[in-house]
Amino acid sequence: HLSVQERIEKKRAAALAGGGLQRITAQHKRGKLTARERVELLLDADSFVEFDMFVEHRCSDFGMEADHNKYPGDSVVTGQGRINGRLVYVFSQDFTVFGGSLSGAHAQKICKIMDQAMLVGAPVIGLNDSGGARIQEGVESLAGYADIFLRNVMASGVVPQISLIMGPCAGGAVYSPALTDFTFMVKATDADVLQDTSYLFITGPDVVKSVTNEDVTQEELGGAKTHTAVSGVAHRAFENDIDALLNLRDFFNFLPLSNKDPAPVIECHDPRDRLVPGLDTIVPFESTKAYDMLDIVQGIADEREFFEIMPNYAKNIVVGFARMNGRTVGIVGNQPKVASGCLDINSSVKGARFVRFCDAFNIPIITFVDVPGFLPGTAQEYGGIIRHGAKLLYAFAEATVPKITVITRKAYGGAYDVMSSKHLRGDVNYAWPTAEVAVMGAKGAVQIIFRGKENQAEAEAEYVEKFANPFPAAVRGFVDDIIQPSTTRKRICRDLEVLASKKQSNPWKKHANIPL
Ligand code: COA
Repeated sequence: HLSVQERIEKKRAAALAGGGLQRITAQHKRGKLTARERVELLLDADSFVEFDMFVEHRCSDFGMEADHNKYPGDSVVTGQGRINGRLVYVFSQDFTVFGGSLSGAHAQKICKIMDQAMLVGAPVIGLNDSGGARIQEGVESLAGYADIFLRNVMASGVVPQISLIMGPCAGGAVYSPALTDFTFMVKATDADVLQDTSYLFITGPDVVKSVTNEDVTQEELGGAKTHTAVSGVAHRAFENDIDALLNLRDFFNFLPLSNKDPAPVIECHDPRDRLVPGLDTIVPFESTKAYDMLDIVQGIADEREFFEIMPNYAKNIVVGFARMNGRTVGIVGNQPKVASGCLDINSSVKGARFVRFCDAFNIPIITFVDVPGFLPGTAQEYGGIIRHGAKLLYAFAEATVPKITVITRKAYGGAYDVMSSKHLRGDVNYAWPTAEVAVMGAKGAVQIIFRGKENQAEAEAEYVEKFANPFPAAVRGFVDDIIQPSTTRKRICRDLEVLASKKQSNPWKKHANIPL
């Protein structure tokens, strides 16, 4: 007979061993770290405090009650720890135990840390690597998913939630990541492994084949490339487990712990009044020529650092996090390099979700505008651009965080209104001397209002003189000032300091009804 102490030690050792050496070796062979190794890398050294190491599944069907089918801790490692000293709750699914599949006990462990994260106000990070519902447990497992989904929804807008997909995630399992604020993925691990390590899909290639007769690989269907470039389900993909976890640590530094906390401020060595001379010449003389909005964003950001969200999806809009004088800001910018920076369905949805995250978590929003309008065409109209474009408009309008807008060049038509205009409660709105605020470009405008008339060229010149400059907006106070581009960083840093005490609220409502 073992003493209680010996039994405790034995169970702890078993929990640490997960599914055993053979399965751990298999995990490593695929270029994947184990659940515990991942937690170690993600968190500050020695900061992890584990919960529920002794929890076991309660299934007694299919021989599951046998001792050799019980793993202390079951198929997930949970607890809390620190990232750069700041509190975070973590769960890490253990693929070496029943393929990381979700049992009732596994779900209960995740729910426990989510509940505590809500009580104390700290983010939740989920490291997903799971074969889905524990098949032996049936509805118990499905109930477990729903318990997690409910908590994801309750936590939405209260504490930041991040999912990192590091292995399979299929069927019902996909909806927890989908409900979280950010979903990151891991790409193929090494040259020998041609497939991405992570994938997300509702149904796998076999089911797809039998229902729609499509031939598609796992990776084409739900790999990192598909979700970061085509579906927009994932926000970033990283090279391998280590790269992903280290990037996640950097990303975490941008986020407040909860909606009650201000955006984090870190010590800044980049002078707040630094001039950026390159910006004075960045906008080409010809208004049809492109330039890279990222040059502007990096130019003004502290240390040129910009954590881009969805860099490969709807590239006509750029969104992501930066710091200004040490303070986290959310940046939104039209990208003239791609489709002239026009707004379309995907860019509107991408922008709207980002703006709403920033607003929910007290992160000021800086918007750079160079937008020729909404993308025309049946594909867009049939796809519901009216409904989707409204999302971005809605998101900017409802946002009560500090909002600073810089019109670098075109601000045409309805898109001018949408892009955090003065009329949507922009706090500080600037125009660069190159700004053109008008209903549309000169050529199109003249073709309509002087249709069939002579002297089109003359009319066009008159239109340009009247509208292709910042004055029509400035004389009406729709922009607060026309600024030298090189001073943009300095101005924004100063404004953010003033706006830090901004208090604004929207009328009471049960919840708003954003056009979905
Ligand atoms: N429930 C219970 N056990 C599961 C499981 C599940 N959903 N998914 C995987 N496992 C177990 C396997 O039985 C295997 O156990 P073992 O180590 O004792 O042999 C182990 O996890 C690893 O699975 P394996 O199939 O060998 O790994 P793989 O890398 O070849 O394939 C999956 C991984 C996820 C693609 C595959 O396991 C799978 O298709 N699982 C079922 C997915 C599913 O349909 N889930 C329900 C929908 S929500």
